[in-house]
Amino acid sequence: MTRWAVGLLSCAVAVAAVLMAVAPRGGEQKKPPAAPAAPAAPAAPAAGSGTQATVTLPATGTYAQRFAAVCAACHGANGRIETPLTPVLAGQPSLYVITQLFLFREGRRNNEAMTAVAKAMTDDDLRGYSDFIATLPPVPAPPPATPPDPIRMARGPALAEQHKCLFCHGAGLAGGEQVPRIEGQHEAYLQASLRGFREGTRPGYTQAMTAAVSQIPPEDLDTLAHYVARFRGPAGALTGK
Ligand code: HEC
Ligand code: HEC
Repeated sequence: MTRWAVGLLSCAVAVAAVLMAVAPRGGEQKKPPAAPAAPAAPAAPAAGSGTQATVTLPATGTYAQRFAAVCAACHGANGRIETPLTPVLAGQPSLYVITQLFLFREGRRNNEAMTAVAKAMTDDDLRGYSDFIATLPPVPAPPPATPPDPIRMARGPALAEQHKCLFCHGAGLAGGEQVPRIEGQHEAYLQASLRGFREGTRPGYTQAMTAAVSQIPPEDLDTLAHYVARFRGPAGALTGK
C-alpha cells in the first residue's frame, strides 16, 4: 500500500464517521422514498427519463444473493461485464466501493442508473454490498477489441510516471483501501472518469484525483485511459503488454 493510502486509511477506518463527515450538497433529497413492500425486482431505471426513477432493493438475503438479484444485470455476476461505460467492480476494495455508493446516494456523483440504485440503499446496504464486492476476485480483461495504438502505448508509461498514477494506485494499478483498482478497467469508462475529474463533473470523495489530473490536457488523459486499459500487471508496466 502507498504511504498516501496508509495516511488516508488511518482517518477513514470508522466508515460510519466518514459517512457522517461528508455533508450532502445543495438541497439534495436526503432520504430515499420508502420502499414499497412488493418483492424486489432489479428494476433498471429507464434511461433518459427526466424524472428520478426509483428502484426497490431486496430487504432480505445475503448480499451475494442481493448482488445477483439486482447488480449482476448491469455489472455481471462476477463483477465484470464488457459494457464500455459500466465499470468493472471485481477486485475493488470495500472502502473505495462504500465511498462511491455513498457519493451516488447523496447525489454528489451523478449517473441516472446508479443514483437510483444507491438512493434505495440503507446504511447497512452500503456496507453489505461493499463488503460483498470486495470478495469478488479480479477478473482478467479479455483482449481489447481494438489493437493497441503504439504511439499512445509508448507515451502512457511516461505520463503515468510523471503524474504519479502508480504512486497512489500501486505498481500493479490494483488500488487498495480508498484507492480504486484501475488495472483491467474499460477504456471508455476510464476516459469518462478522468475527464469527469478534470472538468469537475465527477467530484471525488477527496480532492486527490482532481488535483492529480487538473493540469493534464484532455488528449493526454485519453492516452492514459488507452494505456491503463491495456496495462497488465507490474511486469507489463513499461511495455504495457
Ligand atoms: C441499470 C444498470 C446498473 C445497475 C442495476 C447497477 N449499476 Fe452500478 N453502475 C452502473 C453504471 C452505468 C455505473 C457507472 C456510473 C458512472 O459512470 O458514474 C455504475 C457504477 C457503480 C459503482 C462505481 C464503480 C467505480 O469504479 O467507481 C459501484 C460501486 C456500483 N455501480 C455498484 C453497484 C451495486 C452494488 C449495484 C446493485 C445494488 C449496482 N451497482 C447496480 C450501472 C448499474
Ligand atoms: C494522490 C493519489 C492519486 C493520484 C496521484 C492518482 N489517483 Fe486516481 N484515484 C485516487 C483516489 C483516492 C481515487 C478515488 C476518487 C474519489 O475520491 O472518489 C481515484 C480514482 C481514479 C479513477 C476512477 C476509477 C473508477 O473506478 O471510477 C481513475 C480512472 C483514476 N483514479 C486514474 C488515475 C490516473 C490515470 C492517475 C495518473 C494521472 C491517477 N489516477 C492519479 C488517487 C490518486
